[in-house]
Amino acid sequence: MKIIRGKDEREVGRIVAGIIADEINAKPDAVLGLATGSTPICTYEELVRKYKRGEIDFSKVCTVNLDEYKGLSPENNQSYRFFMNNQLFDHINIKKENTHLPDGLEEDGEKACIKYEACLRQVGAPDIQLLGLGLNGHIGFNEPSNVFSKTTHCVDLTESTIEANSRFFATMDDVPKQAYTMGIGSIMKARTIILIVTGAKKRDILHEVINGDVRPEVPATILQMHADVIVVADEAALGDEIEI
Ligand code: F6R
Repeated sequence: MKIIRGKDEREVGRIVAGIIADEINAKPDAVLGLATGSTPICTYEELVRKYKRGEIDFSKVCTVNLDEYKGLSPENNQSYRFFMNNQLFDHINIKKENTHLPDGLEEDGEKACIKYEACLRQVGAPDIQLLGLGLNGHIGFNEPSNVFSKTTHCVDLTESTIEANSRFFATMDDVPKQAYTMGIGSIMKARTIILIVTGAKKRDILHEVINGDVRPEVPATILQMHADVIVVADEAALGDEIEI
């Protein structure tokens, strides 16, 4: 794993956006694997700034997102489709038909997963996959388990994830309890993976992900087995004890 230290989340966002811009400039039809949550927001803001300065052309870029809540429509302001449109897609020249997320409104879990797998196959493996890190070590919504999942599947979110997500919903009852997520196998197919980690509360789990044994109880530890992972983290998350 290559580790890049940024001073704070803004600098982390600039570093990650810089890597993405270089990729798109080298390969205009790059496939980007994208994440939602608070962590990549600074990266998306910087990508929008770069686009507005004429430094990136997204017209041939394709994107696939890691996950979507089951039961939420694209118009629901808590859905990941809404988030992606609002944070990034509505502000750049990407073609909406080139942006893909699992279909949260598909109630038949099996059907939704087969459909998204077909989409991932058609688009091809991401050149760059962005990941945030859950407090319990999840990536996408691959929660701690006794196996590493391979393909897109429907997950029951854990209490800790529901609790962490509840900050975005009016009541606990509104927080979705299930989601569709790319599997660990699909994530590992990306050519380059960028794990973005910010904030002191992620310090212990980041340490575990970098130095701990590879095991499905801490899903992100599988990243140690990937040939090209870049961890971009701020000082608060890295602390002093992580050697670079
Ligand atoms: C989001 C996702 C999740 C988040 C993780 C961290 O698409 O797949 O794995 O990356 O829960 O969330 P934040 O960034 O809000 O701390």
